[in-house]
Amino acid sequence: MSNVKAALDVIASKAPDFKAEVALVLGSGLGGVVDAVSDAIIIAYEDLPGFPRPTVVGHGGKLVLGRIGGVAVAVMQGRAHYYEHGRSDLMAEPLETLRELGAGRLLLTNAAGSLLPDAVPGSLMLITDHISLFGPNPLIGYHGNDRFVGMDVPYDPEIGSGLHDAAAKLGIKLFEGTYCWCTGPSFETPAEIRALKVLGADAVGMSTVPENILGRRLGFKVAAVSNITNLAAGMSATPLSHDQTLEMSKDGSANLIKILLQYFSSDV
Ligand code: HPA
Repeated sequence: MSNVKAALDVIASKAPDFKAEVALVLGSGLGGVVDAVSDAIIIAYEDLPGFPRPTVVGHGGKLVLGRIGGVAVAVMQGRAHYYEHGRSDLMAEPLETLRELGAGRLLLTNAAGSLLPDAVPGSLMLITDHISLFGPNPLIGYHGNDRFVGMDVPYDPEIGSGLHDAAAKLGIKLFEGTYCWCTGPSFETPAEIRALKVLGADAVGMSTVPENILGRRLGFKVAAVSNITNLAAGMSATPLSHDQTLEMSKDGSANLIKILLQYFSSDV
């Protein structure tokens, strides 16, 4: 029995007949988004075969099923990162589980450093493209032609414009740009950030790209938003640390909750 089937059985036993429309993955410091979920059924990752055991403070390790603004959501409060285990495919089975649960859209969130001087900590950035040069592709070792995922439109423009509309209605500035996946867990050096700027990066972080690739292979429409917690290395005098990331995630997190509520309520 695959982990996916086993995880679906656990979900069916706790949330019979639940069908998801949207799968949401919450990044560091964004766990509070689950407070916006109504009729929540919470299942610990420990009880879900194939789901990660988060080792990172700020990643809750729970699957929350319920509704945001009337839309059925399956929210992963915490994800697996490449830097935790040296594997970039550890989100494959959870994402497949959520796809089997009915979700057609995958909304990824993360904490990120900004290379845009105007996108200061507390800002949000819609990811419109990404650079993945430093970690292994999560589909390495897969067989079949569906491993050759087209990446010409990596992020779904329709969801992106829905999120832009939601942000505009609320008067919240939503930056947009290219996210560069660096493996972490150490932060980048100032020289690396200068190099990434030349390559076209607008934000930098340690996640999201593997899930985008895995999710697109599964047929999800994928969108992603970065919660900017710092200017990237060398762009400000503030030393970077995970505590700083969590501390600075609060403003962006509060605005992201508002945008999601607005986005989902105009969706039904
Ligand atoms: N770099 C990488 N990951 C991050 C950063 C950063 O500056 N900020 C939050 N996550």
